[in-house]
Amino acid sequence: MERIEIGLIGFGTVGKSFYELLRKRRDRLKEQFGVELVVSMIGVRDPKKHGERIDSSVFVAGYDEIIANRDISIVVELVGGIEIPLEIIKGALSRGKHVITANKALLAEHGKELFMLARESGVELKFEASVGGGIPVIKVIRESLKGNEIFSISGILNGTTNYILTRMTESGLSFEDALKEAQEKGFAESDPTLDIEGIDAAQKISLLSSLAFDGWVDYRDILCEGIKRITKKDIDFAALAGFVFKLVATGKMIGDKPLVAVFPALLPKGHPLATVRNEYNAVLIESDFLGKSMYLGKGAGGDATASSVASDLGDLIERIRMKAKPDPVKPRPSRPFSLFSKEDMSFKYYFHFVTENRPGIWATVTGLLASNAINIESVHQKWENPAEPSDLYVMVDETAESKVVKAFEEIINAGGIYDTSTYFRILEE
Ligand code: HSE
Repeated sequence: MERIEIGLIGFGTVGKSFYELLRKRRDRLKEQFGVELVVSMIGVRDPKKHGERIDSSVFVAGYDEIIANRDISIVVELVGGIEIPLEIIKGALSRGKHVITANKALLAEHGKELFMLARESGVELKFEASVGGGIPVIKVIRESLKGNEIFSISGILNGTTNYILTRMTESGLSFEDALKEAQEKGFAESDPTLDIEGIDAAQKISLLSSLAFDGWVDYRDILCEGIKRITKKDIDFAALAGFVFKLVATGKMIGDKPLVAVFPALLPKGHPLATVRNEYNAVLIESDFLGKSMYLGKGAGGDATASSVASDLGDLIERIRMKAKPDPVKPRPSRPFSLFSKEDMSFKYYFHFVTENRPGIWATVTGLLASNAINIESVHQKWENPAEPSDLYVMVDETAESKVVKAFEEIINAGGIYDTSTYFRILEE
């Protein structure tokens, strides 16, 4: 029976789950693929700390021995960070080994050179686990929707922020308490900055858009806003008006330019993404023949992520067995997109003006919206104490972002309206 050797680098939560998955499925995989799969080396920082339940001779220090080992044809990189995994993947690809990674930050930063290197080396760089954790969305875009033209992808791609927003909405928790809870439950990183500021989701939607639209979207170029501006008052008003706040990542082709962005948005309660709760992720894809389809599942965690790593492994085994050529490189880093500009985007908007409590404020706000040709859909105001600032909530019809920015600035500068005022985009189905 043919033997395929795997080098696993990194033995943290995901590495352990992946190893356990292979142990459990060993016989079935043998039967299914007709090959003997062997994890012949596991690269860790300190091999002495491992080996209690696994033959300690497989553990090696670092990764040099693994990428130099001619018998290993697949390297599974589950290290995390940027510099070390970059060296590992470059080393493995250039020695003709296929690579599986779950590291979206690395692909977002260095994907261009790594995908090119895979192509030059005639091997594959697989990354199902890098977006949406256990949700097999890369495969859906690459394979299942091959016969479709994809118009748009929108998703909830960050479990930490979705957990925080769900708890703020459903249980009235403050942002700080919800974040603390997410950290205690192990969803949020100890430094959650990349999650909260939308950068994690930006890296993921850039990868998905690159794949779906067949070019290269650099996450550093896209519109990216986090969730920190959302207050309890915003959440309560949204609920009253029939909306929920979500951190949405979206990619959509407009002509020959993709609009790719991450921002907190109000979604009508009936929107498919509005029903995605807690740490779950979801991806909603709109394509010509299938129409709308949505993929839901766990976006992080050892077992969920290992499930996607194993899916990549299955694909590679098939290729090795069939002696098939690698897939043409997708995403195509050699085709960088010029993006649809932020100023040209248009949405419906929700404004929350914090104002002095006196006659004439409504007139100022509505007058300046009117002079910028912005059509008001609804206005809501309620105050109890005239000595305190008042909250004025305004929802407007679809408007170009450039007009909204201009009108907002004029309103803030008009006097009587505080700069703690804010606005958010509304996404309808
Ligand atoms: N930190 C991410 C999240 C998971 O909260 O969804 C890894 O990308």
